[in-house]
Amino acid sequence: MMPIGRRTALIPFLALFAAWFFGDSSLRAAEPVRAPHAMVVTEEPHATDVGVAVLKRGGNAIDAAVAAAFALAVTHPFAGNIGGGGFMLIRFADGRSTFIDFREQAPASATRDMYLDASGNPTRDSIDGWRASGVPGTVRGLELAQSKYGKRKWADLIAPAVKLARNGFPIPATMVRSLNEERSRLEKDPESRRVFLENGADLHAGQRLKQPVLAQTLRRIAKNGAQEFYEGQTAQKLASAMAEHGGLITLEDLRSYRAVERAALAGHYRDISILTAPPPSSGGIGLLQMLGMLEGSGYQKTGAGSADAIHYTAEVMRRFFADRSQYLGDPDFVKVPTLDLLNPAYVERRRSTIDMNRATPSAALNAGLPSGNESSETTHFSIVDAEGNAVAMTYTLNNGYGSAVTVPGLGFLLNDEMDDFTSKPGSPNLYGLIQGEANAILPHKRPLSAMTPTIASRDGKPFLVLGAPGGPRIITAVLETFLNVADFGMNVQDAVNAPRFHHQWMSDTLYLEKEIAPAVAAELQQRGHRIEYSPGVVLARVEAILIDKKGHKEGAADHRFSGKAAGY
Ligand code: DON
Repeated sequence: MMPIGRRTALIPFLALFAAWFFGDSSLRAAEPVRAPHAMVVTEEPHATDVGVAVLKRGGNAIDAAVAAAFALAVTHPFAGNIGGGGFMLIRFADGRSTFIDFREQAPASATRDMYLDASGNPTRDSIDGWRASGVPGTVRGLELAQSKYGKRKWADLIAPAVKLARNGFPIPATMVRSLNEERSRLEKDPESRRVFLENGADLHAGQRLKQPVLAQTLRRIAKNGAQEFYEGQTAQKLASAMAEHGGLITLEDLRSYRAVERAALAGHYRDISILTAPPPSSGGIGLLQMLGMLEGSGYQKTGAGSADAIHYTAEVMRRFFADRSQYLGDPDFVKVPTLDLLNPAYVERRRSTIDMNRATPSAALNAGLPSGNESSETTHFSIVDAEGNAVAMTYTLNNGYGSAVTVPGLGFLLNDEMDDFTSKPGSPNLYGLIQGEANAILPHKRPLSAMTPTIASRDGKPFLVLGAPGGPRIITAVLETFLNVADFGMNVQDAVNAPRFHHQWMSDTLYLEKEIAPAVAAELQQRGHRIEYSPGVVLARVEAILIDKKGHKEGAADHRFSGKAAGY
């Protein structure tokens, strides 16, 4: 066990003093939204309202999740989707749980080196344009959830999304900003330019975005079920557009796509039981391995945001991300050593290499298990209903607005999830992740994800439901938010808002949000960390619900974005 030094005990006090002195509102206590029965927290207010309305009309958390997901596909096209994929974690009121994996899948004609140019270097084809997409999973995933676990009618759950697409909604300032940021990519695709950029016009907050073509697609899905998307008119239009533009997805790829149920990954931190995402996400293994290294270390003694706490947690992050690059991939294709990576003896061995006074250079740190051992931009929402069912769902197009391609005649954006595969071992992807062979491209394989929908329980009752978008920063943001509640006693809104930090092994950089005091950064630098204040890069956005001992719900939308918590 690593004793934590006391010499930096003054730092959290100094940080708080600086926050008070300089008027930094992020460190002031913020209050969550409170409601006695049920709560919905999403990244977009219309979607939250749709979810709450479903719950009030007797739908359960799964119904509300399906309705909110379809609504987000209209109102938050940055990440909400029917052309992408994701994960839904459900914990039922009776304690059972399931994990619905509707991650995209590589098309049948995908090949290992398909994103390398003649000199063997990765191209941008895995990120932009028609060749970047995996077979979308969202509609099958939502149908599986609703048909097996929902109470309301499928068509009723899609109706609010149809209405939002047909009648339009005022574009929020955050969406104007993200559309402008992605303008050069969206402009290359005539349909994206027409639908989302009004043929190149200047966008302003408050103007209405109507999506009549998407409304028709959604209406057909409401009427004919997921079959419409995977075999019907929608499938046919999508497959012929793919063929026309050199994309890979065929009618057969769509027809054969299945969402699958997996056992949620389960673990513990002290007396807290945790359900989280199994492979093909790396998030759950990451969360549990990092918590394993932190438990009992005393890392928290000097307080949230102190140099000791950040240093130790960053070292833990660095070690997990080294393992991630080596061992993790789609469990249907590679043997993922989940149990070995979470084995307490292994976790202890890994922790014993942490030096409290010195950052371990990433170049000197490899994945921890001997190889061959054991035989080798997204959106999240959290929902709790009055019966006690909880849903944590994260789904994505990958990059903001996915591949920036909108399918003509169908009105929805396609994902660029193929970039989550290893295009070339050792070369960074969109998120700077260095990945390995376990995540190489193969037909029908699912790319490794970082999405980490998570539900924590105490005494057999769920008390924290959370998750986030943000690529690899998802895993560290979920970890930090959880620790802020479990170890630092923050209320859930403060826990979500608290300044975050992130380390992902390679590049060897410790990212700090700007609210982390310069004195703390200097102390971390002294210990050998290469510090970068995270400028435009937001270290994920967490949407969380806390359930208190009386069963009351507290919802926290991340102050970094324009989401909404609401309940009744
Ligand atoms: O599955 C993953 O890990 C990524 N495709 C998630 C992308 C993401 O979170 C982007 N969000 N800002």
